[in-house]
Amino acid sequence: MEKVDRNFLVLSAVYGLLGMGIGLYMASVETFKFSAVHSHLTLVGFVTLAIYGLAYRTGLAKKDRWAVAHFWVSAVGALIFPLGEGLAINGNGIALAVVGSMLVILSALQFVVAAWRA
Ligand code: HEM
Repeated sequence: MEKVDRNFLVLSAVYGLLGMGIGLYMASVETFKFSAVHSHLTLVGFVTLAIYGLAYRTGLAKKDRWAVAHFWVSAVGALIFPLGEGLAINGNGIALAVVGSMLVILSALQFVVAAWRA
């Protein structure tokens, strides 16, 4: 529970590296069809998780069991959403992208509560 801020920040960096890798790949093969996957992994994964982590680190959001649940929903959502987008772009249906986007929205709502309770 006390490490939730660190977990958010480390995962943010990992998703950021993954997203940047996809960006680099797109640039090197000059094919931009996965542009949305790249931008969501970097913005929802890297930037958003970093903001959550910094909020927990600085006390702007309350660090308790709720924060741990928030971490897991955010972690899964930020990965499944761009993954589902990639599948959708390749014509494999939108189900995973829909589930991922729901989790991303749920995690934003969890953050509202965590910030409110601080
Ligand atoms: C190694 C670092 C990065 C590389 C090589 C890279 C590469 C790219 C490429 C090739 C595109 C597609 C451009 C196009 O469609 O014409 C793109 C778009 C984009 N990137 Fe990155 N990027 C990097 C880091 C980031 C980071 C850190 C963020 C955000 C925090 C970001 C956010 C975006 C956004 C929002 C778009 C626009 C997507 C769209 O218009 O559909 N990128 N990037």
